[in-house]
Amino acid sequence: PALPLRDQWDRPLRDLRLSVIDRCNFRCSYCMPKEVFGDDYAFLPPSELLSFDEMERLIRLFALLGVKKIRLTGGEPLLRQDLPRLIERLVVIPGIEDVAMTTNGVLLDRYMEELHQSGLRRLNISLDALDAELFKHMNGRGYPPTRILHNIKEAKRRGFKVRVNMVVQRGVNDHEIIPMARYFKEQEIDLCLIEFMDVGNDNGWDMTRVVTKREMIAKVTEAMSIEPLEARYYGEVAARYRYHDSDAEIHFISSVSESFCSTCTRARVSSDGKLFTCLFASSGFDLREELRAGASDAELLASLVKVWSNRKDRYSDERSVHQQSNRRKIDMSYIGG
Ligand code: GTP
Ligand code: 5AD
Ligand code: SF4
Ligand code: SF4
Repeated sequence: PALPLRDQWDRPLRDLRLSVIDRCNFRCSYCMPKEVFGDDYAFLPPSELLSFDEMERLIRLFALLGVKKIRLTGGEPLLRQDLPRLIERLVVIPGIEDVAMTTNGVLLDRYMEELHQSGLRRLNISLDALDAELFKHMNGRGYPPTRILHNIKEAKRRGFKVRVNMVVQRGVNDHEIIPMARYFKEQEIDLCLIEFMDVGNDNGWDMTRVVTKREMIAKVTEAMSIEPLEARYYGEVAARYRYHDSDAEIHFISSVSESFCSTCTRARVSSDGKLFTCLFASSGFDLREELRAGASDAELLASLVKVWSNRKDRYSDERSVHQQSNRRKIDMSYIGG
């Protein structure tokens, strides 16, 4: 294929976020609200999920087009059976330099050793509060933070590079910013404060609930001294800062207040094999259909090239315009953030 592959705004393809399952053991209101994802919710049946063979084949092709980084997401990726068997197949693909996973951390202790042996080295673990009652409420399942906190520590001890993700919502958990920062600084674990986004269709988003990066930095600065770090690579999503008196970092993701679409190098594949070129897309390109119809590598590559070359998405840059429309967006849990 003709490289470098560029989209309509001259952005290369570098990262792939691969969702391995659409289910989750939590019901965070901003992602899988209980009222929508109830007992009778129709999750994908196993036959509709991409098999590990199919995933590996796709990633090999993506790597030929410039993808260097894979992030496994869900729902909750650890609910996918035998996940370490997939990881060991992905880490050896030529061109893939980094395989990471975003998880809620609940099942980590069960799989920690296997995950490490499979070659996984980087974990982003979501945790929105230290306060037990608040966290129980936020995850929609009454689950206390104890085991997750334990798993975060263990993961660091085991040698994983760990970052904790906190989605901040005004009036819900913004008062936990400082306790979280203090706690994880003490543990020498990186913390990432994320602006609450208008993903999906039912997450109760409105601008008044967004605590902006600027506000978060001001809040943190009142309590502790931090300084900005250089971006590590083109298009890094998080703005990284370091504490003066610790090796730990604190990151901010400003998806709402300062969009980063102009350097967005991310493609997303859902667990049923649809390719999306933006987190806020309404529809994706059906790779599974091509795979299962017996497409050759050349045919699949041609499809990937076509989709990426035509890509024009920059939702966050245009958020205010899009908000006027009632277009349905894909669910956060289906695409994995
Ligand atoms: P790296 O792959 O290491 O850069 O991690 P990441 O920060 O992209 O991944 P993670 O899964 O931890 O996501 C953190 C937050 O960033 C989540 O809220 C994601 O939804 C958000 N995010 C990641 N990529 C994008 C993107 O392309 N656009 C927008 N709007 N948000 C994104
Ligand atoms: N806004 C910002 N981040 C979100 N996440 C889930 N929903 C939202 C939202 N509405 C986060 C999760 C996880 C990551 C993949 O995305 O907490 O850390
Ligand atoms: Fe599950 Fe993560 Fe969504 Fe919460 S944010 S419901 S843990 S996928
Ligand atoms: Fe990329 Fe879409 Fe996010 Fe913009 S809104 S950074 S184009 S995924």
